[in-house]
Amino acid sequence: MVMVTMKSYGVSVSIVLSAVFVASIVIVFIFGCFSDNNGIGSFYANSEEEIKIPVVELMTTAARTHIGEARAVLSSEFSSKFNSTAIVTKKENSKLEQGLASARAAIRKAALNRNKSIIYKNNDLLSGQIYRNPNAFYRSYVEMERRFKVYVYEEGELPLVHDGPCKDIYTSEGRFIHEMEQGNNRFRTRNPEAAHVYFMPFSVTWMVKYLYHPNTYNVTPLKDFVSDYVRIISTKHSFWNKTQGADHFMISCHDWGPVTSQGNAFLYNTSIRVLCNANSSEGFNPKKDVSLPEIHLYGGKVPSKLLSPPPFNSSRPRLAFFAGGVHGPIRPILLQQWKNRDSDIRVYEYLPKDQDYYNFMLQSRFCLCPSGYEVASPRIVEAIYAECIPVILSDHYVLPFSDVLRWEAFSIQVDVSKIPRLKEILMAVSKDEYLRLKEGLRAVRRHFVLNKPVQRFDVFHMILHSVWLRRLNLRVG
Ligand SMILES: *[C@@H]1O[C@H](CO)[C@@H](O)[C@H](O)[C@H]1NC(C)=O
Ligand SMILES: *[C@@H]1O[C@H](CO)[C@@H](O)[C@H](O)[C@H]1NC(C)=O
Ligand SMILES: *[C@@H]1O[C@H](CO)[C@@H](O)[C@H](O)[C@H]1NC(C)=O
Ligand SMILES: *[C@@H]1O[C@H](CO)[C@@H](O)[C@H](O)[C@H]1NC(C)=O
Ligand SMILES: *[C@@H]1O[C@H](CO)[C@@H](O)[C@H](O)[C@H]1NC(C)=O
Ligand SMILES: *[C@@H]1O[C@H](CO)[C@@H](O)[C@H](O)[C@H]1NC(C)=O
Repeated sequence: MVMVTMKSYGVSVSIVLSAVFVASIVIVFIFGCFSDNNGIGSFYANSEEEIKIPVVELMTTAARTHIGEARAVLSSEFSSKFNSTAIVTKKENSKLEQGLASARAAIRKAALNRNKSIIYKNNDLLSGQIYRNPNAFYRSYVEMERRFKVYVYEEGELPLVHDGPCKDIYTSEGRFIHEMEQGNNRFRTRNPEAAHVYFMPFSVTWMVKYLYHPNTYNVTPLKDFVSDYVRIISTKHSFWNKTQGADHFMISCHDWGPVTSQGNAFLYNTSIRVLCNANSSEGFNPKKDVSLPEIHLYGGKVPSKLLSPPPFNSSRPRLAFFAGGVHGPIRPILLQQWKNRDSDIRVYEYLPKDQDYYNFMLQSRFCLCPSGYEVASPRIVEAIYAECIPVILSDHYVLPFSDVLRWEAFSIQVDVSKIPRLKEILMAVSKDEYLRLKEGLRAVRRHFVLNKPVQRFDVFHMILHSVWLRRLNLRVG
């Protein structure tokens, strides 16, 4: 349990982020009380102005997957003993906080209905099976649409701020920034007083392009930029200091997103960081940070072969496929074990020139997705598009949207230590189980698609929903 109590400008701001670990399919809520003597993570432990109120918080906490990773989870159960109590709020926050309290109450109520077979009439949700708690997710999503407001800081100049890459490997970073800057979505507000969260629209990928000196491995210029950026917005506006950045967020798909965010200690420790490189061993904290899917769009487009995968029941001759360089800690193990070893498990370092990467994916039942230099792999989303069951081979990777999605409904995670037994493990998946996973992939695809203009439940909205959940966990008053 972590308790953070802060004070600034005579207004006490308290944030309680605490976690309760519950067994595997996770049911979590966050509960905490302000007290003088809980100094864990306390920035200003001896504030004389602490408000002592019981605070009951909603969902999102760490849970354990079978590979022992921390995950954030949208709660599927709430005990009535944790009913939300009256919220003590201050001035302008009170209306916003009341709205959030209503949202929390509505989600809690919906979460009690655990009927997974529910399919909403208006086709909003296709399949209950892929969600931890479809009712809670649906209610939370609708509450987000109804209420959530994001203020986008106007400070900073092109190209480093207000822009980002919209093609190739870091697409998800740039597309999100563009959508917040220029999109016609309902979430952006120009009135910072009306916002629930504050977006800092800088692009780490563009910092690498414009500020980094190649081959130096020196990220100081990037950290300095972030440090300056936070200094500017926290001097010009009052919002950062109120929560020490806890209701602020950044996004980055670049491998160096996490290290760049170290430019400001509060950004790193307290703000919501939306990151592709969601390595829980490197400071990624699923209670407050958001795992961003890596979506590789060559030239900004989904490869045409992946737009329409083969008919659902058409046969796929190959068991498993991987092709890619020997990057990072896991791939050497995979390549050493399986490269040129077995005609069912096609593992290549480089594909022969006359072979097509996507054809391999479309003809394989399972697509191996090992981490490379960083934990995320664009293969996961490619596999979803190709309806090839992703086999996730990673350590310390917090999977995207795992607070609401049941990844076990559409993917397989294999412990890195079991790579030698990969064939045995995949062969043991029954026909029925395989079809179930494939149906899961069909259902989840919409959550990993980039649209322009954005569409309900697509990846833009899923990212925003992850931020929304983390904001719901925060009480500012
Ligand atoms: C919590 O709320 C439920 C339903 O609104 C109510 O029945 C229950 O008595 C409440 N529990 C507490 C401890 O207030
Ligand atoms: C779950 O929902 C489905 C569809 O709405 C309904 O047919 C079924 O009876 C429900 N099951 C339970 C246990 O409530
Ligand atoms: C926020 O705090 C910093 C550091 O204490 C201070 O320099 C800055 O002026 C404050 N911002 C505002 C708007 O008062
Ligand atoms: C951030 O977290 C690190 C590691 O837990 C700690 O050493 C540091 O003091 C924290 N900084 C702030 C500003 O909270
Ligand atoms: C695929 O085949 C199974 C039986 O093997 C059948 O139940 C199912 O309806 C088929 N799905 C589609 C989409 O054709
Ligand atoms: C994740 O972080 C740990 C700890 O720094 C590191 O050993 C590991 O290599 C990282 N994983 C990847 C794929 O980079």
